[in-house]
Amino acid sequence: MIISLRTLTYDELKEKLSREDKIVLWSCDTCIRFSGLGGISKMQILEDMLVNDGYQVIRKELLGISCVDELVEDRKLDDVKKEIFDQATAIIVLACEEAWERVHLAFPDKKVIQVTRSFGFGNISEERGVHLTNPFQDTEFDAVPGGIPVEQAAKQSKTFHTFFDADLQEPLQPANLIEITVDGKTILAKEGANLLEECQANGFPIPHLCHMKSLLPTGACRMCLVKIKGRKGLVASCCTLVQKGMQVITEDDEIKEDRRITLELLLSSQEHNCLTCVKEEDCQLRTLIREHSIVDLRFGKKFQPIPLDESSDAIVKDPNRCILCGRCVRACDEIAGKHNLSFAHRGSRVIVVTGLNKPWAESDCATCMACVYACPTGALYEKMLYFDGNDWKPRKLYGQYYCNRSHLINTEKDTQK
Ligand code: SF4
Ligand code: SF4
Ligand code: SF4
Ligand code: FES
Repeated sequence: MIISLRTLTYDELKEKLSREDKIVLWSCDTCIRFSGLGGISKMQILEDMLVNDGYQVIRKELLGISCVDELVEDRKLDDVKKEIFDQATAIIVLACEEAWERVHLAFPDKKVIQVTRSFGFGNISEERGVHLTNPFQDTEFDAVPGGIPVEQAAKQSKTFHTFFDADLQEPLQPANLIEITVDGKTILAKEGANLLEECQANGFPIPHLCHMKSLLPTGACRMCLVKIKGRKGLVASCCTLVQKGMQVITEDDEIKEDRRITLELLLSSQEHNCLTCVKEEDCQLRTLIREHSIVDLRFGKKFQPIPLDESSDAIVKDPNRCILCGRCVRACDEIAGKHNLSFAHRGSRVIVVTGLNKPWAESDCATCMACVYACPTGALYEKMLYFDGNDWKPRKLYGQYYCNRSHLINTEKDTQK
């Protein structure tokens, strides 16, 4: 993976912008995510900070792992996105320098702001975190045995290894706060905001699977149902906007039973053997299964195994663990802009497919990983990203495999083990 560090403070970044700018955030969800500087979640943080400071963020984009010209050019040719890029006056690239150059070349008429500098290749392991092991020749770093921890690299190069000092920011003070009642308590919520998100932010967690902050809500999973005074039946909170005086019940026996049934039906119709699943503790479905104390299946098991798609170098699709939440499809449309995923078939045979139901490797996938990041279960996962912790041997060298900056490595002093 490429090790990049942040070169600008948040205040320096703001000096390059004006409040009239229409800003697009552009990032990549691979190396830069592990360097702590980019990826979908960091774009979300930066968007919140900028919007809170009165700037206009009109779009978030995800660049693929290979950072090739074609990916950038795609955005310019995509009908849906053309309008957005025509409007945009500033693009902030939370990615390595290579990706910044691509975006910069593709949009010479825009303010394309670089916030990072790349120092070379490195490794990541759970025990040691991110280390720079193969510095680029044009940096001040020598390759040293065991590599240089990213914090030390940041200090030596007078850059920053974390994101825009988000931890140091004052809590956001959103405008247009109104009173609503949630489970008998009065809270202040943003008028017109997403009800589920506002409840969560105020300490009323609502179970959800298909909702993700960066994506348009669809109400597909029915886990986030709540009661709202004056409305019939149960309402999907992820698709409901906050209105003044709203009285919401997020949990009672009826709601809990409804959610239980939804979960049990998912378990009955799919393969969820958590012991053999890569998602482990990160699985949102597994968390909900535990929270709802589901230990047996009232509806039995009605399930036909479907073959995995392992054709891609980077991504594995296991349809047996897919809950059809659609987050991957929306991520590919709304974040990656590739429109490479969709649903196929009908009824109980519905599955997520790539392209026109081609193997993943033959589809138009940009390997940006937006769908993998969005998937709440083990239905989509990275083939390899981590290095073995003990001997630093990669199971597959993912970053170098794709990246065209490898010729810049400081090979004379290469001591990567
Ligand atoms: S997707 Fe989640 S619930 Fe299903 S097997 Fe994997 S960890 Fe378990
Ligand atoms: S299928 Fe996934 S990895 Fe491929 S372009 Fe779409 S979002 Fe990116
Ligand atoms: S692959 Fe994952 S994100 Fe896509 S629909 Fe299935 S569970 Fe949802
Ligand atoms: S989270 Fe609201 S319906 Fe899925």
